[in-house]
Amino acid sequence: MATLGVNIDHIANVRQARKTIEPDPVQYAFLAELGGADSITVHLREDRRHIQDRDVFLLKKTIKTKLNLEMAATEEMLKISTKLLPDYVTLVPEKREEVTTEGGLDVISNEKYLRDYIKCLKDSNIAVSAFIDPVDEQINSSREIGFDFVELHTGKYADLKKQEQYVELQKIIESTYFAIDLGLVVNAGHGLNYQNVEKIASINNMNELNIGHSIVARALAVGLEKAVREMKTLISTN
Ligand code: PXP
Repeated sequence: MATLGVNIDHIANVRQARKTIEPDPVQYAFLAELGGADSITVHLREDRRHIQDRDVFLLKKTIKTKLNLEMAATEEMLKISTKLLPDYVTLVPEKREEVTTEGGLDVISNEKYLRDYIKCLKDSNIAVSAFIDPVDEQINSSREIGFDFVELHTGKYADLKKQEQYVELQKIIESTYFAIDLGLVVNAGHGLNYQNVEKIASINNMNELNIGHSIVARALAVGLEKAVREMKTLISTN
């Protein structure tokens, strides 16, 4: 059964809209855990548009589950993460102008840089994941240079209408098995919601699904704890 990582960046988005102190993502992480979150994910962006440095250090001290720090592979983030020591880091591509993470990380084109970067994180006992498109060559390269996990980008699958999802779903299923055969642990995420999560959750040996937007949107109606519990039920019954 896949576990659920809850991305709470959107809580910080609301706070930063007014640059005030509420809502505090640290407090909402507690509610997400009460609802059954198995880990808490935050993306510390270079432009600090939502999550702030203070948030990640407080989360590390207060959460009872695991902390997954999403970040770009920059020198600044290496310094912060090796001080923070999250349970794992997910490396993502980052562009200032994007609304959310767009494509997956191009591991193949950055093998040399990323190999050294991963080593620094692993030397600090941080497990490292690559957020990549479901493409065999990217998976191979991720394994080759030392990533422990891959997170397969489900955005393309999620953007399609139900009747058009089959081909993209097969790609994700085949990539999952391919990565597991190479010895990688496989997570997935982006764009997953209450309507499309079940097919991804039912992939054999899927480790964790990282979900943010749909859970925080649902939380506006039912509260975060319940929104997380509903998602957890959908994942665990598959
Ligand atoms: N995984 C990664 C690597 C992401 O960048 C994001 C978005 O921050 C997510 C998962 C969650 O995506 P969504 O908010 O669409 O559920």
